[in-house]
Amino acid sequence: MTHRFPDDGYEGHADAALNIDPVFTRPGEATSMPKYQFPEELMQSDTAYQIVHDAAMLDGNARLNLATFVSTWMDENAQKLYAQVADKNMVDKDEYPATAELEERCWRMLADLWHIADADDTIGTSTVGSSEACMLGGLALKRLWRERRLASGLPADRPNLVLSAGVQVVWEKFCNYWEVEARYVPISEEHLGLDGSDLEQYVDEHTIGVVAILGQTYTGIYEPVQEIAAKLDEIERDRGIDVRIHVDGASGAMVAPFCQPELVWDFRIDRVNSVSTSGHKYGLVYPGVGWVVWRDRAACPESLIFHVSYLGGDLPTLGLNFSRPGAQVLLQYYQFLRLGFAGYRRIQQNSLDVAQYLSGAIADMGPFALVTAGDTIPVFAWRLVEGSSRNWNLYDLADRLRMRGWLVPAYPLPEHLTEVVVQRIVVRAGLSRDLAGYLLDTIREEVSFLESLDAPMPRRAGGGGFAH
Ligand SMILES: Cc1ncc(COP(=O)(O)O)c(C=O)c1O
Repeated sequence: MTHRFPDDGYEGHADAALNIDPVFTRPGEATSMPKYQFPEELMQSDTAYQIVHDAAMLDGNARLNLATFVSTWMDENAQKLYAQVADKNMVDKDEYPATAELEERCWRMLADLWHIADADDTIGTSTVGSSEACMLGGLALKRLWRERRLASGLPADRPNLVLSAGVQVVWEKFCNYWEVEARYVPISEEHLGLDGSDLEQYVDEHTIGVVAILGQTYTGIYEPVQEIAAKLDEIERDRGIDVRIHVDGASGAMVAPFCQPELVWDFRIDRVNSVSTSGHKYGLVYPGVGWVVWRDRAACPESLIFHVSYLGGDLPTLGLNFSRPGAQVLLQYYQFLRLGFAGYRRIQQNSLDVAQYLSGAIADMGPFALVTAGDTIPVFAWRLVEGSSRNWNLYDLADRLRMRGWLVPAYPLPEHLTEVVVQRIVVRAGLSRDLAGYLLDTIREEVSFLESLDAPMPRRAGGGGFAH
């Protein structure tokens, strides 16, 4: 026995010291180890690898997780590249000028995709995800508003942001962290998202901007940016208040340009100040990368930009983080290069086709009514039909599907429609039509099991009632 190992009577220590003992019989695997304190001593890297690998194995199968929008599949070359560039630090543009160049190519390609007017007069950046990108878009709106107010000698101490009650939590965070009043426009059965109606009641001279969601998290709907802009034009005409829009295109900004090119939602609309998206959602990259682009340099106040003199020139940087991985940015460029416009269109269209195949079949099952069909982003939601007296609800179905390996969440719609419980599927690259067929078989089997119950399923804590 060597001094490295505790005197615990474990007979494998001598072999372990020579690194010849079989895996699963080594200290740390065959003996217990502290969970919440540093281990006293070292262990073989193979042992540590096996322990971490096995713990990760207990997570769900990501490909069967139909709750997440985040990419769970990339091809083998992407995986090879990922391993090779895992050490790149995005902020270190001096050390990694090539990575910095490819980052710039990426956001400029997005600016072009989103119809920027003047490619020489714009600014953008990568981020860790849509959350950081939204924060930057929101911060720019706040700073623009403040500078305008102060220049006119007006108070700038009560900023508000107007947004739908159906926004993703990042916007609640934005308003909380940066002390901006959130003015939520309620959703209803007729208005599942912000569409310009009643906007005049929420917008005033303290409004820093309006958020429009392209691909709402709850249902997948597109908020009509053109209609919102038209209403803001009206407000400006009537009351002289000029309010700009940030488009949160976390999912939709990487789907609409390829599959719904006729939809006008981007920089073609003058009021759109900035657009953000998640590279790690329909940008088809593993987590975490996001992007934000401003319509022109004036749309992102100079005071938010830090100038560094790496590369012998002036390099503007903005972001909430300092060090962060550069690998995802390189993976984004790989995907742009590998797939091009035609490849993105084919992949997103395929996901839309699978989503509509699934939504059509689910609508035909009987107990369900579609809330959305999967024809905006490849995301759709459904509810139980009204007036039923069945002994189960969508939470029960979610539980049953989870037991079969599929994650298909059920949840209430946001404030003002919380009585409506929906279940949602996010189709991503990697959910083939064949796999979708297995899913449909499983849903049919579980619905038939639930329909056969002659007493209610025991309710789990926190579970909701029936969806009406
Ligand atoms: C509309 C919308 N905005 C923002 C986000 C936050 O994105 P991320 O997870 O990339 O930070 C999401 C995530 O689902 C979203 O759906």
